[in-house]
Amino acid sequence: MRAMAKRSGLILAIESSCDETALAIVDSGRRIHANVVASQASLHAVTGGIVPEVAARAHLRWMLPVLERTVADAGLDDWAALEAVAVTEGPGLAGSLIVGITLAKTLAFLHDLPLVPVNHHEGHIYAAWLLDPGEADRDPPSFPLVALVVSGGHTFLVEMRDHLEYRLLGQTVDDAAGEAFDKVGRLLGLPYPGGPAIQRAAAEATARDRRFPRAWMGERGDFSFSGLKTAVRRAVTDEVGGTADDGVSLPPGLVAEVAWAFQDAVVDVLATKTARAAEATGARAIVLGGGVAANSALRGRVAELADGMGVPLVVPRPGLCTDNGAMIGAAGFHRARAGARAGFDLDARPSLKLAS
Ligand code: KG4
Ligand code: ZN
Repeated sequence: MRAMAKRSGLILAIESSCDETALAIVDSGRRIHANVVASQASLHAVTGGIVPEVAARAHLRWMLPVLERTVADAGLDDWAALEAVAVTEGPGLAGSLIVGITLAKTLAFLHDLPLVPVNHHEGHIYAAWLLDPGEADRDPPSFPLVALVVSGGHTFLVEMRDHLEYRLLGQTVDDAAGEAFDKVGRLLGLPYPGGPAIQRAAAEATARDRRFPRAWMGERGDFSFSGLKTAVRRAVTDEVGGTADDGVSLPPGLVAEVAWAFQDAVVDVLATKTARAAEATGARAIVLGGGVAANSALRGRVAELADGMGVPLVVPRPGLCTDNGAMIGAAGFHRARAGARAGFDLDARPSLKLAS
C-alpha cells in the first residue's frame, strides 16, 4: 500500500537527457542538498559530437555511482524523508532518457515514492530558483518574467506569469544557439563542446572589428543561426582556402578573431531580443538558462540591458546553466505540488515541447 503523501519538500531528481549523468537532492524547489554531475564531454570529444548509443551506455555505467555519491553528499539515511522522485521525461535522446527514467521508476517503486515527470526545458528555467548549500537566501525571481533558454538542442523565449505557466514568445527556426557554437567550433578546429572553446578563443582576439550578419527575423521573437554558420564558413574559406572541417589548419589569430565576431553576433541577437521581450511584456525579472547562458559575453550583455531597464536579471552560476539534476529537482518540486504523477509505464518523450 502506498504510504500517505509526505510534504517534506525534498525531491530526488534525475537528469540524463543528453550527455550528463546527473542526480540531485533539492529542498522545496530551491536549496541544493546534493548535486552530482558526471560529464561525458571528454568521451564525446573523441568523435567531435555525441553518438547516442555511446551516451546511453555511459549513462548506464555512471548512473549508480552518481546515485551513491548524491545520497552520501546529502547525508540521506532515510528514504522516507523524500517527497518524490523527479525525472526528465524529455526532450532529449531516447536511449539516454530511458536510463534515467528506469532508475527513477526503480527508486519510486522500492521506496514507495511518487514519480514526477519533468520537462528538461522547464528545468533550465527553474535553475534560476536554486540556492547552493551554503549560499545566503535571496528572493526568488518575480512574476511576470521573461526566460531565455539557450541550450545545445533548443533556443526559445517564454513569458511566465506564474509557476509552470509558459507562453512562447519566440524560438529558433533552424539551429539552436548551442548547436551553432558547436558547429562553428568544429569549423574553427576547436575541441568539443564548441561553446566554452569559442568563449576562450574569443577572449584572445586582438582584432575586434569583424562583423557577421545578424538575423533579426523582423519584429518576431524568433531566432535563426544557420546563416551565421554559413557566413563563418565562407569568411574562413575566403581567407585560408577551407575550414578545419576540410582539414585546413587555421592560424590561431584568425580563429580568435572569427570566434569573437561569431560570439558577438549570437550574443547581440539573443540579448537584444530578450530585452525587447521583457519590455513588451512588462517583465519584473529576466531569467537566462541552458548551457549557452554559461557564456560570459551573453551574461554581460544581458546584464547591461537589464540594468538599463531597471529589471533584475537572474542567471544561475555556469555549472547550473549546463545540464544538472538540481534544476530538475527545482522544477520537480513545483510539478509534484501541482499533482503531476507518472505511472510505471512512463516513457521517454524525445520531442517533448514546453509551450506553443
Ligand atoms: O543545456 P546544455 O548543457 O545541454 C542541452 O540541453 O543541450 O547545453 C549544452 C550547450 C552546448 O552546445 C555547449 O557548446 C553550450 O551549451 N555551452 C556554451 C558555453 N558552455 C556551454 N556556449 C557558449 N559559451 C559557453 N561558455
Ligand atoms: Zn539542457
